[in-house]
Amino acid sequence: MRVLLGISGSIAAYKAIILVRRLVEAGAEVRVVLTESAQAFVTPLSLQAVSGHPVRSALFDPEAEAGMDHIALARWADTILVAPASAGLIARLAAGMADDLLSTLILATTAPVILAPAMNQQMWLHQAVQANLGTLRARGVEIWAPAAGGQACGEVGPGRLLEPEELAARLLQRPHSAIDWRGQQIVVTAGGTREPIDPVRFIANRSSGKMGHALAEAAARTGATVTLISTAHALPTPAGVRRVPVDTALQMQAAVAAETSMDLFIGAAAVADYRVETPATHKLKKTPDTNTLTLTLVKNPDIIHEVATRPNRPFVVGFAAETDDLHAQAEAKRLAKNLDMICANWVGDGQGFEQDDNALWVRWAGGQQALPSAPKTTLARQLIERIAHCRQTN
Ligand code: PMT
Repeated sequence: MRVLLGISGSIAAYKAIILVRRLVEAGAEVRVVLTESAQAFVTPLSLQAVSGHPVRSALFDPEAEAGMDHIALARWADTILVAPASAGLIARLAAGMADDLLSTLILATTAPVILAPAMNQQMWLHQAVQANLGTLRARGVEIWAPAAGGQACGEVGPGRLLEPEELAARLLQRPHSAIDWRGQQIVVTAGGTREPIDPVRFIANRSSGKMGHALAEAAARTGATVTLISTAHALPTPAGVRRVPVDTALQMQAAVAAETSMDLFIGAAAVADYRVETPATHKLKKTPDTNTLTLTLVKNPDIIHEVATRPNRPFVVGFAAETDDLHAQAEAKRLAKNLDMICANWVGDGQGFEQDDNALWVRWAGGQQALPSAPKTTLARQLIERIAHCRQTN
């Protein structure tokens, strides 16, 4: 595990020394970046001694730029933890500033970013701090809320940095990607398409986009360049992922076609098989003399099949949402669509669609694997590992 530990200015910074020790003892590689104000509380020398590596704090350090510059450091990390994260640093990150090494690294990384805040309890409760944390959460940053208790300033309340042992245990239990796909192009589709009937109505399905977004996030953790073509406008964009918003199957087809170079394609979207042939240009009105309305539907292009039959096709992973005969239906789709792998899930009865959890049956030419019910984020990581293994042996 490669942890980049950021330390910002707070009296709790002394705990970071113990945290680094615990992580190194557990076999993690740790590099430390200090903000300028952190240096008032803890010295680079102590952190260098416990981490075994030079500690960085300057954005423009000629020696580091020749070796591990700030971009290399951002790519090196598989997780960035900022502990303690001060109110000032949180505000700068929420504003997207790149005015020192730590904030620049956080903008430049595709690794997951975790903040462990520490500050006076009134500051922690202040609307501005909570709004900044909300902004960061919406961008996919994890916040490990501080503990409550006695504070260095004499007050009692929430704002104490979590103990180093707890921070280390949480970090070490977290799955991270051991896969290095830097330089690779991955395209993921997510969400259900919306096929217009008229300017205010559409045909849709229950896909929320959660599975596809989790896959894009897990794929980005490998260092790959990830494009997420998604209809799920309400979901946040995973860190480091380029997002292309679409609504209809035809828009999704055009967005996929524009991705001319890809090493891996994952079709997690629930694409409507049919669309209304000629959507009305004005809102359809109820007619008093008839009880029925007939819509003519035409077949949508099969997006994944188009990718799987390209001359220089990528590794292609499809999904199958089924209400019966899961294994046989999914395998038939894998063969008919020329896919390298299919991930089948039961849908209906509150399963698969919209939920945070899912279960998958994964089938490829050389084998199969059942992934039992788990959060979609966990399944996404397991699936990326399975795909990496299959691509190696393909
Ligand atoms: O989005 P969530 O709420 O998290 O739910 C996740 C999910 C259930 C939507 C997801 O896990 C899933 O199963 N996605 C595929 C659903 C689906 O449409 O399956 P399908 O059997 O209709 O399609 C098979 C494959 O062909 C899919 O990879 C699909 O993206 C692709 N396809 C289908 C039709 C079409 N015209 N073009 C396509 O590319």
